[in-house]
Amino acid sequence: MSIRVILAGATGWAGSALALAISKSSDISLVSAISRTYAQRNLGEVLGEPLLNCPVYAAAQEALTHSCDVFVEFTKPDIAKLNVLTALEHGAHVVIGTSGLTDADYAEIATAAEKHQKAVLAVGNFAITVVLLQKFAEIAARYIPQWEIIDYASDQKKDTPSGTVSELAYRLSSVRPSELTIPLEQTQGVVETRGARINGSQVHSIRLPSYTISAEVIFGMPDQKLTIRHDSGSSAQPYVDGALLAIRKVNMLVGLHRGLDNVLDL
Ligand SMILES: NC(=O)c1ccc[n+]([C@@H]2O[C@H](COP(=O)([O-])OP(=O)(O)OC[C@H]3O[C@@H](n4cnc5c(N)ncnc54)[C@H](OP(=O)(O)O)[C@@H]3O)[C@@H](O)[C@H]2O)c1
Repeated sequence: MSIRVILAGATGWAGSALALAISKSSDISLVSAISRTYAQRNLGEVLGEPLLNCPVYAAAQEALTHSCDVFVEFTKPDIAKLNVLTALEHGAHVVIGTSGLTDADYAEIATAAEKHQKAVLAVGNFAITVVLLQKFAEIAARYIPQWEIIDYASDQKKDTPSGTVSELAYRLSSVRPSELTIPLEQTQGVVETRGARINGSQVHSIRLPSYTISAEVIFGMPDQKLTIRHDSGSSAQPYVDGALLAIRKVNMLVGLHRGLDNVLDL
């Protein structure tokens, strides 16, 4: 039996690459898609792939008139939470790729997922190298009490920090908060230069032309330091592979889970 998917953001950079990969898979099929620009069109015609024969709608409420097993969210943070809550109300499991959702958004989503006894798998970055960065950083945080995170992205990226870094800070908070030798309130000068305190980590976001997405966590101890860094290339392929895995495995879970490692044997 094929896994029936609704894809929100199917005409975007990440969503269209995922849609094309789904057209080549034998166990996943798209039943509808979401994009305002291409509403009322056929996705196969929009993406030039006849195998993707499904309707496009402007909103989740309309797309969900088609029954689905998994709703995949790859739009923008201003609409993502509503899409996810609507999908849960319609009895779908959800995979979230969209970045920029807040911890408060996730708390609301977690409550809804429990209420409907469905799974939400939110993955700030589907690339396997990011999953490994998170894992290695969690191990390092157990031994090294001080670290800071740097988030690099292009000048076009509006949301900050990136989903990758926000998820990293969230995960490190379950190990412990990073210690500060000089507390922020005792810092002299411009305190903002010390970055933002997010879930117990100092986070610094850089937005400049020529960056794609990179994340770096620096662990410092007297006379030694460890840097763990991930750099994205320009293709969407690493995200597609991880998203397909999430679609195939999300039904093994119940409630909200953050990070692809929830469905990997690491
Ligand atoms: N987790 C990961 O590994 C990963 C990887 C890549 C990207 N991302 C994240 O995924 C999201 C999408 O990235 P992208 O680069 O693909 O963006 P994009 O190219 O701008 O595509 C956005 C898609 O969402 C649709 N959309 C946007 N706002 C909408 C709304 N209000 N209602 C309905 N559809 C809407 C757009 O269609 P219309 O404008 O026609 O509505 C388009 O199909 C971002 O948050 C990005 O950071 C995550």
